[in-house]
Amino acid sequence: MLQKVVRSAVIDAPIERVWSVLRDFNSHDAWHDVVDQSRIEAGRQSSEVGCIRAFTLKDGSFIREQLLSLDDREHRFTYCIVEATVPLERYISTVTLKPVTDGNRTFWHWESSFKAPPGRERELVDLVAQGVYEAGFNNMRRHLLERRDRRPREASIMPAALPIGCRSVVVSAYGGVESMTLRDTEAPAPGPGEVRIQQRFAGVNFIDVYLRRGWIPPMFPLPGTPGMEASGSVIDIGPGVTSLMGGDRVAYMGPVAGSYTTVRTVPQDWVVRVPAHVEDDVAAALLLKGITADYLLQDLGRVRPGSRWLVHAAAGGVGLLLCAWARRLGARVVGTVSNEDKARLAREHGCEHVIITSDYRFAEDVRGVFGEGADVIVDGLGEAAFDENFSALAPCGHWISLGQASGVPRAVSPDLLISKSASFSRPVAFAYVATRARLNERAERLWAALADGTLRAPVIERHPLQDAARAHQRLESRRTTGALVLAT
Ligand SMILES: NC(=O)c1ccc[n+]([C@@H]2O[C@H](COP(=O)([O-])OP(=O)(O)OC[C@H]3O[C@@H](n4cnc5c(N)ncnc54)[C@H](OP(=O)(O)O)[C@@H]3O)[C@@H](O)[C@H]2O)c1
Repeated sequence: MLQKVVRSAVIDAPIERVWSVLRDFNSHDAWHDVVDQSRIEAGRQSSEVGCIRAFTLKDGSFIREQLLSLDDREHRFTYCIVEATVPLERYISTVTLKPVTDGNRTFWHWESSFKAPPGRERELVDLVAQGVYEAGFNNMRRHLLERRDRRPREASIMPAALPIGCRSVVVSAYGGVESMTLRDTEAPAPGPGEVRIQQRFAGVNFIDVYLRRGWIPPMFPLPGTPGMEASGSVIDIGPGVTSLMGGDRVAYMGPVAGSYTTVRTVPQDWVVRVPAHVEDDVAAALLLKGITADYLLQDLGRVRPGSRWLVHAAAGGVGLLLCAWARRLGARVVGTVSNEDKARLAREHGCEHVIITSDYRFAEDVRGVFGEGADVIVDGLGEAAFDENFSALAPCGHWISLGQASGVPRAVSPDLLISKSASFSRPVAFAYVATRARLNERAERLWAALADGTLRAPVIERHPLQDAARAHQRLESRRTTGALVLAT
């Protein structure tokens, strides 16, 4: 007869923190007292389904267990014993985490079934229930507490008080990519309210090109390091930081450039935790662009079923996200792109009707689809598309001047707007995440949209940090689709 063991506990830590430990199938020798040493066989990743962990217990027992499934969305994994000196036959076990809604705590459910030799059933059920599961809950509580308690000590005695040497892309003169070089720099120790981050990827955005070209000098004094977003993990924290700790997987976006670097110190208010189901490169590629799509849809464009949207560069970083999200929210979406491959991609991401144009002529086609024009135009093109955009705008429509890939747009006169009773806005993403609460709220919506399939992570083009100039050239050439990141 199969024995069944079921145990559960509430852990006083957010689900992402508990999951970040548990999803590493080889982490148990770090937090579970009964485990002595553990390794993953055959050089596989410890979160790769099929991998085998071979470990010894402190009593000398030897066990090999195989990871059978791992679900980041459900926070669940299942594993089985493939070989053991303990007589647990046909042992299969599942761990599931759920958030506890009345606080930032985690419900942990651990169950298993196995066959025990006759006469040893009770002994082995007790061993698993108490020696492994109950003890495991307590060990995890202590492990998380120790990590939390370590923070202030680390901050005061570790070299945290010292700058850390790093490598940064530095622009020494406004203009072309030739002014970008990789230099040795330093990331200062985090001051009050700051965290220092070991970066993995920096997101590349079109604004980085504007800054390098010298189009917005107050935002980018020279010499300067471009980049408004990145992902990585927290190295250390400054006084007064309560929401983050060393080791947290994070991403950030902020209004001061500088993310093309390996280590960076930033205000905690720029930083969000990255859930386990979002990879580091996706977080760096999508945080700023996804939050831009969110504020365009929710705040400025007030999307609703049937509203008519014109999205330029519909196969680009912001464009793909915007098309998919707007469609999911019931809008009708026309996009512009410059070639057939981009058109195909834009359609795959929800763009209902795609106009292929490389010379900024689209107004007639837009009216052909929408009748009198678009209710909302998301215009990242700027000057070269100025007249066509106004022409494509429906009466009472809203023209959102998001960017200026083709050149800085001329001023919009009130007289022009009155002729269509139109409104015009010139937003900047950072104003829409000015508080930590706003940033977290938008980031949560973005992560949820990725988790439930509303958004698909686009193709992400990776370049090494030292090739930032090449990444800029690619973006400026109009040959990229989706998002670009620099691997640091
Ligand atoms: N204000 C904000 O809060 C905010 C935030 C994020 C992004 N933005 C803006 O949103 C737009 C999209 O940004 P992104 O980072 O996602 O870039 P992207 O869309 O991935 O790349 C830019 C695209 O613009 C199109 N384009 C048209 N004329 C161009 C030209 N002369 N040079 C280069 N590209 C041209 C190209 O697509 P086609 O070849 O298909 O036309 C190109 O692929 C940019 O204008 C950016 O500044 C604004």
